[in-house]
Amino acid sequence: MGRLVVVSNRVPPPADKGATAGGLAVALKAALRETGGLWLGWSGDTAEEASGEPVVRTRTEDTIDFAVVDLSRKDQEEYYQGFANRALWPLLHYRLDLVDFDRRDTSGFFRVNAMFATLLAERLRPDDVVWVHDYHLIPLGNELRERGVRNRIGFFLHIPWPPPDVFMAMPCHQRLLETFTAYDLVGFQTDHDAENFASCLRRAGIGRETAPGRFVAGERTFDVGAFPIGIDTRAFAASAARAVANPIIRRMATSLDGRALVVGVDRLDYSKGIHQRMLAYERFLKTDPARRGRVVYLQVTPKSRSEVPEYAAMQREVAETAGRINGAHGDIDWVPIRYLNRTIKHTALSGLYRMARVGLVTPLRDGMNLVAKEFVAAQDPDDPGVLVLSRFAGAARELTSALQVNPYDLDATAAAIAEGVAMPHDERIGRWRAMYARILENDVHRWCRSFLDRLSEAAPPPRDAVELRRAS
Ligand code: UDP
Ligand code: G6P
Repeated sequence: MGRLVVVSNRVPPPADKGATAGGLAVALKAALRETGGLWLGWSGDTAEEASGEPVVRTRTEDTIDFAVVDLSRKDQEEYYQGFANRALWPLLHYRLDLVDFDRRDTSGFFRVNAMFATLLAERLRPDDVVWVHDYHLIPLGNELRERGVRNRIGFFLHIPWPPPDVFMAMPCHQRLLETFTAYDLVGFQTDHDAENFASCLRRAGIGRETAPGRFVAGERTFDVGAFPIGIDTRAFAASAARAVANPIIRRMATSLDGRALVVGVDRLDYSKGIHQRMLAYERFLKTDPARRGRVVYLQVTPKSRSEVPEYAAMQREVAETAGRINGAHGDIDWVPIRYLNRTIKHTALSGLYRMARVGLVTPLRDGMNLVAKEFVAAQDPDDPGVLVLSRFAGAARELTSALQVNPYDLDATAAAIAEGVAMPHDERIGRWRAMYARILENDVHRWCRSFLDRLSEAAPPPRDAVELRRAS
């Protein structure tokens, strides 16, 4: 196989510039460390308005060459904050109540995809395998084909895909769906997402399904499948076992003073159900006042996409709720919720998970949710904690031994927290072993290999595909 070329909007910051929050960058970094390759994406910085031309900066870390580009303020507003995060993100998370479709943002989205395609096409070698990631870059494959690129191109969506009745609320749904036909393989987190996507193609009349998961559209054939993403399970477990020596973990252990720790770790995003989780925790406290002072709930929640109005509103709501619960139920020597808006590095995070009696992962909708898998990986095999997991996270398809909850049902979530805190040792071990075996087998390396193996089996695009596409 030729060089692996990965493209994603978010690229991890240089190793010495702090931690990454966000499953895509965390998982891809772990996967690419093994394969090596080129990783192209947004630097996270704003370009000087005067320059006009995109400035590409390169660096090499371990086996990975990075090429990152600054985006102009207009591009960030229209492509990233606008179409990607005010239209696609809420739509694909089933939140039609939060979408904002704007024609200027739509054209900015396609414009930035075209810009990325131009930068990439200039750097591609004939035998490179291209792997495009996530909702920001859906049209990238099509833009590459229009520039004459004949390489194998795969696409993986890290977030959910909703049923046609939800997806087709988007004014440009047909145009966006058609761009998928440029890929050789389109991957989703779960079989449900893949089925929803296939239903959208059928409803929109795009392609013919010639075999399960195989579509032929005009001169192109492409496959659709589920490839549930994993974590670097062994490395994460080893890091958690070492973390007792970490100063943050020691401080945390001292401050707990024998109380049970309940932990939540999420970007501050409405899809994570943090507000509902806090309300459920409050019900857990209210149901039995004897629990007060005996449990601490730590919510690690780095701010995310704060320039997007829907995020800013939700951030205010969550902060107010945390403050209200602490005011109402706290005591001079006990705060029910420790609410942090900062990013904690994986090394310390793994130790916090291991120290916790309960991990609360209760998104309203989530593609996979790596935190759920990290929590399981980090546990002490002789004294594991309990995972309370939303059935609307992709991880619920695999982690069937978690205490699964409907996060909209606050009473049921409160009851699951209570069950987790009080769960007998034998039951904790039984549930944990089943989950750990699963994530050990299906780790991030296997995910990467299975996607790339399937992509390498895809038929190469016909020689005249590009000319036909241009002529039509
Ligand atoms: N994360 C982190 N530090 C934090 C918060 C989150 O390193 O303070 C990491 C977390 O460990 C996980 C990723 O960010 O690897 C979040 O991925 P997930 O799939 O759970 O959610 P996403 O943010 O991608 O929606
Ligand atoms: C999710 C998305 C990623 C994104 C990450 C962090 O994991 O699937 O594409 O990178 O959230 O969000 P951000 O907007 O900071 O990149």
